[in-house]
Amino acid sequence: MANLNELTSPVDASASRQRNRRSFLRTSLAASLATLGATGAGSAFAELTSTEGAARLAADGTSRRTVIIDCDPGQDDAIAILFALGAHDQIDLKALTAVGGNVPLSLTERNARIVRDWADKTGTLPVYAGCPKPLMRELITAANVHGRTGLDGVTLHEPRGPLAPQHAVTYLIDTLRAAAPGSVTLVALGPLTNIATALTAAPEGAKALREIVLMGGAWFERGNITPAAEFNIYVDPEAASIVLSAGVPVTVLPRDVCVKAPITPQRIAPFRALKNRCGPIVADILAAEVAYQKGRRGVESAPMYDPCTIGYLVDPTMFGGRRVNVAVETTGQLTLGETVVDWNGRSKRAVNATWITDVDADRFYETLLARIARLP
Ligand code: BDR
Ligand code: CA
Repeated sequence: MANLNELTSPVDASASRQRNRRSFLRTSLAASLATLGATGAGSAFAELTSTEGAARLAADGTSRRTVIIDCDPGQDDAIAILFALGAHDQIDLKALTAVGGNVPLSLTERNARIVRDWADKTGTLPVYAGCPKPLMRELITAANVHGRTGLDGVTLHEPRGPLAPQHAVTYLIDTLRAAAPGSVTLVALGPLTNIATALTAAPEGAKALREIVLMGGAWFERGNITPAAEFNIYVDPEAASIVLSAGVPVTVLPRDVCVKAPITPQRIAPFRALKNRCGPIVADILAAEVAYQKGRRGVESAPMYDPCTIGYLVDPTMFGGRRVNVAVETTGQLTLGETVVDWNGRSKRAVNATWITDVDADRFYETLLARIARLP
């Protein structure tokens, strides 16, 4: 079996599709192996044979996942939720849990309810409100990026359905306690406060998790909220550290990969041409993201963040990365929230995550478009 620490190089930004696919198969194997070692942060990997890993890889390609999305909508969160709903043959989306992040919780939970209305899921997809602020810090928002409502670029209606009555953390704890081992995938698109709180209050729930797939962090690409840190991790670094230490298989879609699938006017056009309701909504949101970046950096492109997590679930062969140790800086004066990735195994700390660095961007956009086209 390939040494799991010898996967794709991060500098292969322009790798051909063929090479990208080969490299991902190695990473995908590693990620699949991670799902087998649900209780140990790295210790189980070396004991597995490649035959077992390949069998799991094949199974992963066909099974429909039970998924909960924890989010802070947020423009890109909204697109990720729609992407998951359009991928209903592969993703059985059980609930949205909202957290304070891009905008305060009162807006993120509201926006989550608006997004489900767009997809005609008002009565069937519960939305739970969770933690309004980070574990140990005050909330920092990104309203400058996403707009005052959190969903700049689209006209917002009054949500058609209410919040679910439970607290999101209670819902997560109850659901994970009742679930079969390794049966639930958590997708995390915002600060990790809800998930860290649930895993701290009920650590036994971790065994129900097949995988946590999160957007957050930066290593080869620098930060977007400070020079060192990416927004989701910076807002609640203690929560991120808890999640990465929970012994759950974690796959990270950091800025490193998100900047390699830039949103451009050419990539937005096919969404606008869709004849359904959701296509033009997605186009409007993407256009607002590009407009913000044009104002800030003068370029007509923006990173594709949260939807990368769903792309990874729908077709992991589009991505490449490496099994590594990731630690979160929680005390640094200049580096608070930095995700320190042990790319070359210098620290000897146990592997605790699959760090994704590469994506076949054209395939990603084809995949997203096809799923959005299925929506109302
Ligand atoms: C992340 O921060 C938020 O602003 C986005 O929704 C995304 O989850 C990108 O750094
Ligand atoms: Ca987000």
